[in-house]
Amino acid sequence: MRLSLRFIVPLLLVLAAFAYAVLPLVDGLTVRWFVRDLDIRASLIGNTVREPIANSIRSGDTARVVQALTRITEDERVHAAAFCESPLATPLSAGTLPPDMRCADLAAFTGQPGHMLTTPQGALLMSVRALEVDGRPAGDLVLLHDMSFVTRRSEETRRYVFALFVGLGIIVSLLTVVIAQLSWRGWEQGMRALLRGEGLLRSSDQPEVPEFRPLARDLRELIRDIESERRPRDEDRFAWSPEALRAVLNHELRGQEVVVVSNREPYIHMRKGESIEVRRPASGLVTALEPIMRTCSGTWIAHGSGSADRDVVDRHNRIDVPPDRPGYRLRRVWLTKEEEAGYYYGFANEGLWPLCHIAHVRPTFRTSDWTQYKRVNRIFADAVVEEAASSDPIVLIQDYHLALVPRMVREALPAATVITFWHIPWPNPEAFAICPWREELLDGLLGSSILGFHTQFHCNNFVDTVDRQLEARVDRETFVVSYRRELTAVKRYPISIEWPLSPELTASPVAECRAEVRRRHGLPDHQAIGVGVDRFDYTKGIEERLRAVERLLERWPDWVGRFTFIQIAAPTRGGIEEYDHYQTRVRALVERINTRFAAVSSVPAIILLSAHHEPGAVHQYYRAAEVCMVSSLHDGMNLVAKEFVASRDDERGVLVLSQFTGAARELAEAVIVNPYDTDECAAALQAALEMPEREQRARMRLMRSLVAEFNVFRWAGRMLIDAAGMRKRRRLRDRLINTGRTDPGSPVDRGA
Ligand code: F6P
Repeated sequence: MRLSLRFIVPLLLVLAAFAYAVLPLVDGLTVRWFVRDLDIRASLIGNTVREPIANSIRSGDTARVVQALTRITEDERVHAAAFCESPLATPLSAGTLPPDMRCADLAAFTGQPGHMLTTPQGALLMSVRALEVDGRPAGDLVLLHDMSFVTRRSEETRRYVFALFVGLGIIVSLLTVVIAQLSWRGWEQGMRALLRGEGLLRSSDQPEVPEFRPLARDLRELIRDIESERRPRDEDRFAWSPEALRAVLNHELRGQEVVVVSNREPYIHMRKGESIEVRRPASGLVTALEPIMRTCSGTWIAHGSGSADRDVVDRHNRIDVPPDRPGYRLRRVWLTKEEEAGYYYGFANEGLWPLCHIAHVRPTFRTSDWTQYKRVNRIFADAVVEEAASSDPIVLIQDYHLALVPRMVREALPAATVITFWHIPWPNPEAFAICPWREELLDGLLGSSILGFHTQFHCNNFVDTVDRQLEARVDRETFVVSYRRELTAVKRYPISIEWPLSPELTASPVAECRAEVRRRHGLPDHQAIGVGVDRFDYTKGIEERLRAVERLLERWPDWVGRFTFIQIAAPTRGGIEEYDHYQTRVRALVERINTRFAAVSSVPAIILLSAHHEPGAVHQYYRAAEVCMVSSLHDGMNLVAKEFVASRDDERGVLVLSQFTGAARELAEAVIVNPYDTDECAAALQAALEMPEREQRARMRLMRSLVAEFNVFRWAGRMLIDAAGMRKRRRLRDRLINTGRTDPGSPVDRGA
């Protein structure tokens, strides 16, 4: 019906406008026709009465003139007739002549077409005809025709014309509706056939309608696009990209806003004298999540830790980032010195960090730290609730700093989909059991719909821990924990980096990067370069790495003066005793090794750069190096390894990688080492430095294709697809509960 109205209403409007414009024309035309007819009639009457009137005038019999005029007025359409012998005479008349009509006034109208007079009796048409007798003028005959019949007929004509248009409108509307309905059905059938892949056929034995061919081609392309967007669901080899991730968000999650929560912020504003400098922190979490947020938009909630952070936010503590091309919102939360000391330095980094990493550093647990940890987790959870634009947002909670936030968000927003990702290893149940607040931490994490780890090993450890510590049911086939009548899926999502890298990171050719790094550090041409890039953290195995360099120079002394290892160590967690001691130890070790080999060569064996480096600078070192060494004693994933591989578009360079990183499970073509085995590490460095270019290329190619395929968009995309599946299942379950077809007492799948 709506479709028909779409045709009919404009059609009727156009017809009405047309009728409105045409009626006055028709009116004017009919009046003109009548006037012409009456003029002809007036001439005819004049000819008929000319003889009798002339005879009567000649005989001076005015009574007979009036008689003749009276006969003329017997015609009902003639209102009056008059005769003027001369302009000075008094008109002889029959009928009702307007009282003010004089013979002198008529001369101007003689022989002219009829003239309209408006009188109290109505419109009259005056025709004046000169009568001649024997070729000489005998006077003027005046005829006044009653025009009221013309008005009547004109009205009648208008009615007919109006009825004609109405009739026409109805007929055309009906025809249009019938044709539109038939065509629509045809189109519908054609589209359905096309969507079924049958093409736009009229019938099975007729060819495709040629006019529809361009449309059919467009539709086929569109269908192909949609299908390829859907492919990530079930195709492992799908090429994950920002566009694919966006498609998942839009199609699977209906464009739902994403809220990310982490301790570390992606951009730190620092005061530098009078000006403000923006820094990208050295953090695997930030490296991974930043491109995701640039793709998905949404809000990232994090601790505002920079000295100028407060100066640049709006009154809601928000700022749009990245600074040069804003794409998402950063919401900062503020912590007091005591809160930061207890929550971040204390419980998170003196307690949980050493608890989860096997680096032989004892965790320290203080009740006062735990109190601050709970308080700060509440601050973050409240910020999530404030920032959530709907009752069922997708909340991505990051890391060990915020273990209690999932439960807190779940309680405040029961319909939210909470995805928690634990970026560091999860220890075995015995190791975790030493934490005095183990049950509270597990309870907090099990507020998540999905809980992610980098490796299956860490998933296993978590599930074992839950089994040991809580009254929970663990399904070891599906890896779903049922706790407090709610379900949490425990899954492996190996994190990665953006692929391809931002072009500016690889813009300088490798040779230029090499020359620049050598020049900067006063190294000779052809000096071989090794590189390590880490936060200055005891889990990173920096001491072990430097000992391996020393051993290399001992065992293969040819490298003394020909090889320099550059270690970038970003300052981190300063003030924690264990870190301060570690950093002092590493500095002393560098000093000792350099002094030892200084006797043979003035070129330093090791250069320690204990300073923050922006991504552009870090990639210059990656590209300058012959070898990159990652020797973590224990690491959830380690994105430095993947960054090095991504940075080497020349397919050269060797990665030496600790077997205790998550990355070692994926980058099998790296030279894998045990960082505790100094000899093995030294031999690995030697093998890397001597590796033929062909082998370097072969290894690098394989690793690059892996990082390209398993990039960070895939990491986020797979979590979001799983979340979308949960949301659908939850909706279905809610519908079934509403129709009484399922048991509301069964555990809730908080895909939310
Ligand atoms: O790489 C593991 C990780 O926990 C990241 O998730 C996190 O960003 C970083 O280490 C911690 O560093 P910071 O204490 O400087 O944030």
